[in-house]
Amino acid sequence: MTSFLKQNIFSSQNAEQLPQTIQVIKLNHHIRFQIILFKRKLTISQQKEFLNYARIDPFGHSFLIYNSNELKNKINQWKLTLPWITPHYAIKSNPIEPLIYDIINGPYGTFDCASKGEIQMVMKYGVPASKLVYSNPVKEEKDIIFAKSKGVQITSADSIEELIKIQKIAPQMKILWRISIVEENPEQMATLFSGKFGDDVPSLDAAHKRFKQIQQMGIQLRGIHFHCGSAIQGSSSFGKAIDLAQDYSMDTRWKMLDVGGGFPTGNIHENAINALKRTENDPLGYEVIAEPGRHFSANSCSLLFRILTKRIKHGRLCYHVNESLYHSFNCILMDGISFENQNDQFYSVLNSDESENSKISDQGNVSIFGMTCDGADVIANNITAPTDMNVGDWVCMQGMGSYTIGPKSTFNGMKSTTKIYQWSGQLEQQSEAQPQIAISQTF
Ligand SMILES: Cc1ncc(COP(=O)(O)O)c(C=O)c1O
Repeated sequence: MTSFLKQNIFSSQNAEQLPQTIQVIKLNHHIRFQIILFKRKLTISQQKEFLNYARIDPFGHSFLIYNSNELKNKINQWKLTLPWITPHYAIKSNPIEPLIYDIINGPYGTFDCASKGEIQMVMKYGVPASKLVYSNPVKEEKDIIFAKSKGVQITSADSIEELIKIQKIAPQMKILWRISIVEENPEQMATLFSGKFGDDVPSLDAAHKRFKQIQQMGIQLRGIHFHCGSAIQGSSSFGKAIDLAQDYSMDTRWKMLDVGGGFPTGNIHENAINALKRTENDPLGYEVIAEPGRHFSANSCSLLFRILTKRIKHGRLCYHVNESLYHSFNCILMDGISFENQNDQFYSVLNSDESENSKISDQGNVSIFGMTCDGADVIANNITAPTDMNVGDWVCMQGMGSYTIGPKSTFNGMKSTTKIYQWSGQLEQQSEAQPQIAISQTF
């Protein structure tokens, strides 16, 4: 396990050998940096470090640079702000090895796993069953059998049919009953859950009947669980969700409250912290856990990809890049990210001869297309970008750590992010204390 840290480079499963052309770096080969997060610029020396990673294989696939300090800062901040809540990292948001490794070696070492595959991903590093919650309200029977064989004790459910299934296969498993929270400000959310998951208990009376029914089945009800919506800026529904959960405790004693994910990319909003504070030392005496995904992973990775070709179409400059909606940019499809009509994203150019970093001069409205043959594989129809990017130039995009590499496919037989480099630098301090909302989102 330590060997990969020493190497400082990680390969994903289908990693290819470096091509023969590895030594070739064009003299005038440029690296372009695109920044996604406001006020989070790389220093010149950081840019040079990134340039060196691109030099390793100038004609290679896109790659990720993982910054463990970003994750460590987030975890330390969590310990200060929400010390009574144990965060179980939602591995689905980014399952790369170095990040899992850092979680294991951090103060918590706890995970939210949604399937047999995710349980295996963490258990192969020796994570004990007691450190994970199997948080998926609808499970395959064989996955339940596997989880049982590994000693997993806590899982979630939101339907009686699922409980019957669990009772048959693993009657000793303890259940977190997932309740549905209708999201406030749904237009700002990347992912709504209430339409698909959670028991829609319409009234307190109905809730009590439901818990009675569960108890009468002989199910070991461990507690209540919700996920009140996933969003870059975080969910604003924690207060409402906690009110409901606490109301449900009237005649049902439960021991655990799982407040799910829904924490932002940047700092957790004061309103959410205040809402969560109502669970601290609650006389009801339950343990509180959470399942943050993007909060830990989003800022931990930068994506580097390159220009494959440029051309004019219908009078508009178009770039094709070696990434796609079905690879790291699937965050556009599944996470509501949009780069449309952004005009302040590109900020700097670094030449490969490491001459002075220069400001971007000529910018215009361009389209950026993904590398697959799908006509819908459009990263941005209209974005303000440098008009003089050349074939082979690299683009660096920060904040690409959540819901990017996890759901990527090999559509069209094409690969991306086959390598992950570890970078331990710090990003420059933000000049203003404000949430690190990426870009104004259009959903
Ligand atoms: C059950 C569950 N927990 C946690 C998460 C992580 O959510 P987030 O990235 O908003 O923290 C998800 C995301 O889909 C989820 O489905």
